[in-house]
Amino acid sequence: MEIDTPLLNHNRLKTKGTGIPTNMGLDHLGIVVPNAQQAADFLMEVFDAELDWEIKREPNPTAGERGWSSIFGVHPDSYLAHVIMLKCGENPLTQYVEIFEWNSPDQNKPLGAWHKMSDIGNSYISFTVKDINKVVAHIKENVIPKWQGTRFIQDPPMDFPLRGEVCTSTFLVSPWGMWIELTCWSQSKNLGQVIKAQRQDEPHHLIGCSIDTLPTPSFLIDLDNLDHNIKQMRSRIGSAGINWLVTCKAHKCPDLAKYILERGGGQGVLLLTVTEAEQFAAAGINDIYLANEVACFDELKRISLLAKKIKRLRVAVDNEVYLEELAAAVKQWEITTPIEVLVELNVNHNRCGVDIDEALKLAKRVRQIELESKALIFAGITGYEGHIAILPPEEKKHQTILSHGILEEAKKRIEEIGIDVKIISGGGSCNYIDCIETGILTEIQAGGGAICDILYFEKANLKEHGHKISSFVLTQIISMPKDKSRAIGNAGFKALGWHPFGGLPKTRDKKTLKIIGLSAEHTKFEILPSNANDENVSNLNDSIKRGDKIMLIPGYTDAMGFLHRRIYGIRGDVVETVWDTVSEKTW
Ligand SMILES: Cc1ncc(COP(=O)(O)O)c(C=O)c1O
Repeated sequence: MEIDTPLLNHNRLKTKGTGIPTNMGLDHLGIVVPNAQQAADFLMEVFDAELDWEIKREPNPTAGERGWSSIFGVHPDSYLAHVIMLKCGENPLTQYVEIFEWNSPDQNKPLGAWHKMSDIGNSYISFTVKDINKVVAHIKENVIPKWQGTRFIQDPPMDFPLRGEVCTSTFLVSPWGMWIELTCWSQSKNLGQVIKAQRQDEPHHLIGCSIDTLPTPSFLIDLDNLDHNIKQMRSRIGSAGINWLVTCKAHKCPDLAKYILERGGGQGVLLLTVTEAEQFAAAGINDIYLANEVACFDELKRISLLAKKIKRLRVAVDNEVYLEELAAAVKQWEITTPIEVLVELNVNHNRCGVDIDEALKLAKRVRQIELESKALIFAGITGYEGHIAILPPEEKKHQTILSHGILEEAKKRIEEIGIDVKIISGGGSCNYIDCIETGILTEIQAGGGAICDILYFEKANLKEHGHKISSFVLTQIISMPKDKSRAIGNAGFKALGWHPFGGLPKTRDKKTLKIIGLSAEHTKFEILPSNANDENVSNLNDSIKRGDKIMLIPGYTDAMGFLHRRIYGIRGDVVETVWDTVSEKTW
């Protein structure tokens, strides 16, 4: 029989803290292991841990050369080969495990595979679970046969009376020999929820419903038409051997970006603000081009941190001071993560961008920084010919050739001084076909052509190239005067984002409803005769009534992701998916 000493424990707990001020609790636990990759793979596969960050280091500089022998007391010839931080739960700030792999000539190694439980310095981690029996069965069936060296220490698990509950626990031996406890609390298991990776998310209640049930005004994407447009763009851009960089500034929806990337085969997304880029990174987008300049210290710092979070971060640069600031922002950290720079040229759009002489200087300087510190990498050049968007086709082609001529000349001049220009990024949906023909770009920046609105379809002439309209706004008729001289919908410019290039929206189906104006929350419809020669319009007016829901085609979708919290993906008249936008966080 074992005797507990509750009084002693409780006295200790009652002590008024005299500890460090502002203490928020345990942040993470660090473990030195023989092979960091193996440990991380195991924790990620078996315990759904998520990679937070990792660093791999070369043997040089050694710990001694870094000054670490005196700080940490490690051997001067040692080096920290690999560090991986894993998030092992969803509590903010806590539940992290940091795994270290040191390479050191004087490393103390356990005599066996791992320390004995009683060894000083031995440590283990413990996961809390809701159903210990299910866990034990799962580990026996799926983990022990696959991971060599794993086994149970206590089978069946043991029960302890603790904290007024029954704590049921067992230990799993990890492949490197460390014990990992599995703990199940009789009452507290009912309080929390299982981690996200194991949760079966409830489908949105509107999925599977008719579009008539959607709230108004709302932003809809016709998925069949979107699929069709993606196919068109993918086959044209892809078969020319050009990368399709997906522009997401209009819809601001990471899930829609993923949908296009998965079907488009392109690499990376293009965003215009730092906050947008952070939001897309948080949603799992790993390859981002920030096609804009920044001039604020806080944003520079955030860019340098974003680089750490994703696989590839590229930024446009058109200014030497900005370049130096960006390099400094990256170099401020002991562990630098390079940012790829695209030098931005003014290709007659007269927005951001420099001339060729200046681009040459910037390219040289980026290359110098690359060689000195690897804070920045020269990736190539870019230019956005946004001024051509709605020009007539022949003029658009001509202007595209002129813009790309600037990029071509810049590439030639930069390569003449021995700097390889791997990427030439530019274009947009409005001229992507001309971009393929000029043959200068290695990457086309296009998004709007996939979610096609009036601007892309009609004004940029993509209808001639087989695109289909796929963006819509659903509005509801909220008012009609008795004489039925007009109808009023509830989608104004706050839902449709009016822009002079795209003009006023149109109805998709009701050809007899013409939009003659938008105010903030209202659509103003004129009711047209079904046939211009038909003077008897009264029957027709009767067919439109208060409460009707009407599909509108927006003039230009560029502000729509900013205005809408979610996008409804529809197929036919049925809602297939509901995606959140990052509209609440744009800057
Ligand atoms: C830098 C940049 N590249 C490309 C584009 C083209 O995007 P889209 O294809 O959506 O028209 C834009 C649109 O504004 C842009 O700002």
